[in-house]
Amino acid sequence: MHPSRRPLIAGNWKMNAGGADGCELAAALAKSLRETGDVDIVIAPPATALAAVSNELNKNKSSIAVAGQNMHPEDAGAFTGEISSSMLKICGATWVIIGHSERRQLLGESDGFVRDKVAAACRAEIRPIVCVGETLDQREAGQTLEVVAAQVRAVTGHLGATPGYGVVAYEPIWAIGTGKVASPEDAQQVHSHIRGLLNEVSPELATSTRILYGGSMKPNNAEGLLSQHDIDGGLVGGASLQASGFTKIAEIAQGLAQQAKTH
Ligand code: 13P
Repeated sequence: MHPSRRPLIAGNWKMNAGGADGCELAAALAKSLRETGDVDIVIAPPATALAAVSNELNKNKSSIAVAGQNMHPEDAGAFTGEISSSMLKICGATWVIIGHSERRQLLGESDGFVRDKVAAACRAEIRPIVCVGETLDQREAGQTLEVVAAQVRAVTGHLGATPGYGVVAYEPIWAIGTGKVASPEDAQQVHSHIRGLLNEVSPELATSTRILYGGSMKPNNAEGLLSQHDIDGGLVGGASLQASGFTKIAEIAQGLAQQAKTH
């Protein structure tokens, strides 16, 4: 964490909590996250719950923002099952997760498709959280930095148009949902590499872009990760489905943000 960047903790609910359970979770978070004013909080419910969760947060006068988990680059048309930026906006979303590894791997999303989505999100004034990360095989083959570089370079042109508007999330695929978290040092190495890639576009892009870590982030490992210089927050999966765990992670970020300010 660095004092010049506001920490961001985002919860990716994935294909969970898509009905009344999502509203209950949002209501609980609206209450438990009143004291984390130095941290931006974003939650990404499934599409079926976006509008209801946004309404619930508004009703509770919460500053938590809502994100879609995906969007199509086109604004309308024959794309069965897809959701567009304008549809996300109708539901109250102001952020969108793009290029999550589950979509890259299971649905074959390419760097080019991810780039088009980032461009469309920026045009529509929805803030993108772009996910990048290597597989276990790639890590073991020593390819982590080059894989991540290709994924990041695909989107830096669009992110560079408004430095700080978009966010990058480094999510090593082998750490997602496995309980195997990257060590703070390994994560920091990749985050610093990503910041270097952003710096190729502009120093302003490098210093203003928040780079989140994702992959088995939990209350018991968040502090070590969030203390790293180039880790500006977290993209939390499993632990974001319990108000208590997600709140704890946000509180850890709040504590570190306070410390960073006073040092
Ligand atoms: P887990 O926190 O469940 O490992 O998921 C991380 C993730 O994929 C967030 O987008």
